[in-house]
Amino acid sequence: MLDRLRTKADETAIPVVVGDMATARAPGEYTLVYLVYNTIANLLTQAEQVACFRNAARHLGPGGRFVIELWVPELRRLPPGQEATVWNSEPGYIGLDTYDVLRQYVVSHHFTFDESGRRARLDRTPHRYIWPAELDLMAQLAGFGLESRHADWTGSAFTAESRSHVSVYRLPEPGARTP
Ligand SMILES: C[S@@+](CC[C@H](N)C(=O)[O-])C[C@H]1O[C@@H](n2cnc3c(N)ncnc32)[C@H](O)[C@@H]1O
Repeated sequence: MLDRLRTKADETAIPVVVGDMATARAPGEYTLVYLVYNTIANLLTQAEQVACFRNAARHLGPGGRFVIELWVPELRRLPPGQEATVWNSEPGYIGLDTYDVLRQYVVSHHFTFDESGRRARLDRTPHRYIWPAELDLMAQLAGFGLESRHADWTGSAFTAESRSHVSVYRLPEPGARTP
């Protein structure tokens, strides 16, 4: 990824720090930290996910924002005894998730078919899924409040049917009183 980035912008335009998102430090103070495309769920424990929120807060000045894009766990589509949901099925690709609701753990299975349509490559990735309310509590532990939540990047309303969300968390501005 860094090699590809370097074909577009050099180190002076976009400095890069490589590290664990729960602990890595980037020099300086920022107004925005973002973690998109379901990335916080790559941290597999609640403790690491909370640490990630705290790490984001550490990099922000007063009033700074932390933006997260995350899917909504498909628990409503799991009747008792069923462990998997197909979240995408299209020509050449099937994506399904297997849920372990006891450990709050999901494994995404990505089946990518070759041109014959008869053989597929399987890539699997483990995640710890997070319900929006738990995410809000993690934010609160790190000193953030929820400023806005939408269903997508165009600002569609977040509803009970939304499959993902873009949530904007914000640190208090200077002089703001905490409730
Ligand atoms: C779903 S991908 C999203 C990538 C990128 N944010 C994007 O929008 O294209 C999640 C990425 O997080 C990386 N990752 C997993 N655990 C990580 C960790 N503890 N710290 C930093 N990155 C991690 C994975 O290698 C993967 O590249």
